[in-house]
Amino acid sequence: MKDDIERILFTEEQISKRIAELGEQITNEYAGRKIMLIGVLKGCYVFLADLSRKINLESEIVFLSASSYGFSSVTSGKVNVETNIGFEVKDKHVIIIEDILDTGVTLTALHALVVKRGPASLKICAFLDKPERRDMPLTADYTGFICPNEFVVGYGLDYAEKYRNLPYIAVLKPEKYGI
Ligand code: IMP
Ligand code: MG
Repeated sequence: MKDDIERILFTEEQISKRIAELGEQITNEYAGRKIMLIGVLKGCYVFLADLSRKINLESEIVFLSASSYGFSSVTSGKVNVETNIGFEVKDKHVIIIEDILDTGVTLTALHALVVKRGPASLKICAFLDKPERRDMPLTADYTGFICPNEFVVGYGLDYAEKYRNLPYIAVLKPEKYGI
């Protein structure tokens, strides 16, 4: 698997340092309150596991599924969101946890879905942000790293469901992107 990597953008050490900072920031900003973290599957699973353990607050952790890519590195522009959410967000302090904010189509749809259910507050936390790619007027309240405009894998992010288990963020060799 590691032979498929062209270069590493964010190392394990950089990631763990940044996650500790984010966890501390969220812990301080929500001090004295309970929070709900909504992880957007599947890409969030590594980030949420690490971040949630750096947040020293009573936290409810739930998941939603959303997908817009399928087996491709180009967004389809259409988001499939699981709208029948099986948890209550009313009057809760909610943070949506995403692997990457790219065009913003996915998070715009999810944000609208959660807002309709009346949370006390709602913020967005994205591990990576590719601002150059944005189609929707959306920004993250918490961001791990600003990511260059390249398709990246690792730390939960996939290409055709592979490479999620790489412990860092990397760009694949160009020949690995063609199916
Ligand atoms: P958006 O709706 O265009 O913002 O796309 C968000 C989703 O697309 C993310 O949750 C990822 O699953 C996927 N995605 C966007 N960019 C990348 C990338 O560089 N690598 C892997 N997945 C990506
Ligand atoms: Mg994906």
